[in-house]
Amino acid sequence: MKRIARVILLLLLVAGLWLALKPTLGNRRLTFLPQHWSEYLDYMDFWLNLGAFAILGLTVWFALGALEKVLQRLCLMIGSITLMNLFLEAMQSSIPGRAMDRADIWAGLLGCILGIATGLAFQLFAVRKKSRTTSPQVLFLDQTGRLGGAELMLLDIAAARAADSEVALFQDGEFRTALENAHVKTHVFKLGEEASAVDKQAGVASALASIPAILDLVLQIARAARAFDVVYANTAKSLIIGGPAARLAGRRLIFHLHDIIADGHFSSLNQKALIFCANYCARKVIANSEATKAAFIASGGRADLCVVVPNGFQIPEERTSTAKTSALRSSLGIQPAAWTVLMAGRLSHWKGQHVLLEALKSVPTAHAILLGDALFTDEDRLYAQRLHTQAEEPELKGRIHFAGFQSDTMPYFDMADAVVHASVFPEPFGRVIVEGMLAGKPVIASRAGGAAEIIQHEQTGLLVDPGNADELAAALLRLQTDTAFSSTLARQARQAAQDTYALDAVQEKIESVIRHIAGSNKSQLLSPAIPLPKPPPCAA
Ligand code: UDP
Ligand code: GLC
Repeated sequence: MKRIARVILLLLLVAGLWLALKPTLGNRRLTFLPQHWSEYLDYMDFWLNLGAFAILGLTVWFALGALEKVLQRLCLMIGSITLMNLFLEAMQSSIPGRAMDRADIWAGLLGCILGIATGLAFQLFAVRKKSRTTSPQVLFLDQTGRLGGAELMLLDIAAARAADSEVALFQDGEFRTALENAHVKTHVFKLGEEASAVDKQAGVASALASIPAILDLVLQIARAARAFDVVYANTAKSLIIGGPAARLAGRRLIFHLHDIIADGHFSSLNQKALIFCANYCARKVIANSEATKAAFIASGGRADLCVVVPNGFQIPEERTSTAKTSALRSSLGIQPAAWTVLMAGRLSHWKGQHVLLEALKSVPTAHAILLGDALFTDEDRLYAQRLHTQAEEPELKGRIHFAGFQSDTMPYFDMADAVVHASVFPEPFGRVIVEGMLAGKPVIASRAGGAAEIIQHEQTGLLVDPGNADELAAALLRLQTDTAFSSTLARQARQAAQDTYALDAVQEKIESVIRHIAGSNKSQLLSPAIPLPKPPPCAA
């Protein structure tokens, strides 16, 4: 096969070169065509040049198609072929009676671009859809290889439909291992260094520097997407790549929005890019909470795209044994009777671990376990270092226990007396809150975003103002001293969480969105098994 491809490439190259050289050198002397045709073609010089260079561009695209960065590759191809054209024109002007023809240079440039575009289209449309099944084939996209809340949600969704789904990640890591352990076929399409470094707060300069790598990835994803019915972007960065890729591939896109698009979470440039991509590329936006949906609409997102589906959770039949939780306590150096709060989640300033540490100065007998690590940015890693320093302050020394990232979090929830969530910006959803409730623990959370939708103040938990360490301390003291109130909250919380966030029901809702979107794409697919709930009117 490779030999045939090489022979075709060579033939294309020879044909392109011959046609490109013919008007220059040939001019009635070297012509391979009858005299009258040659004369006719002389009038067609422009088009001949365009065609010749299109063939050259096409050849070069196929020959260099494996190079890494698409923009660099395109510039290199167009630049070198145009240089060659200029050289040919210079030669032509040295032949007596002939002059440099600017139109030919333009024809060469246009032809080269046309050839490259044709090569790209060939590569893209050569990919065929997977064999037709009754269930839509979905390509899930996620930018990270780490395990954050959005990835844990995707893990559950993809695992439930592993036979009809594949996942494309832009970074390798423990997320890939978790997906593969759940029998989900996973590919890693690496995003270049510059583009990986662009975070939610990126400015113009770093965004521009990342363009070649992003374009390259868009093309790779577009090619992969051709084999599927639906593309499902699970994160903001994967929408920026997946949105244009799905359009290019002619496939429909669902965007699962796990973030609050607002200042504090995203730079204004990123907000605009996200909203643009969602509005023009997505057929549906699944928001993880009403707060997330409201922020999307307030930033200019289309209300008619939105549907709210919360995260879902497997409800374990058995919790951790007392023996195991006691062993865990002692391994962390916590006395059996010490009143202990758990704060689970990645270490990041907006998650507010520093607020809990500040509050604990006023709750002198309490211990805290910080479960999680700095996952995504250098800023987070610096923040983690500052937390370690803060934990050494005299009022806190010996009471703050860093447990690092753990894939099995249940024993930590089970060994705690209370669970704290302290995000200083509105939390889009807040899985750790539901996990605390399901563990039957009293939960204190920041009164904002999804957290304020999950918890009913004084009924299924306590809400405090974001960033207010005094209020948090008062709530902690209340739970520590009023054990009857604590147990009532915990009991009610567990019941509410079991009723609202069972994984099966959430998975059905997601599946229904997927079928609805795929179904409107292809009439031959089954109609939705579960009718898609009509979204309530979106409040702006
Ligand atoms: N988590 C984990 N190991 C850890 C710390 C946290 O698996 O060491 C999990 C946690 O149980 C939760 C998720 O990470 O399911 C964090 O999700 P959340 O929605 O609370 O916040 P995110 O980090 O996604 O913003
Ligand atoms: C994101 C959000 C978090 C949410 C999770 C799952 O990581 O930050 O609040 O719980 O996605 O939807």
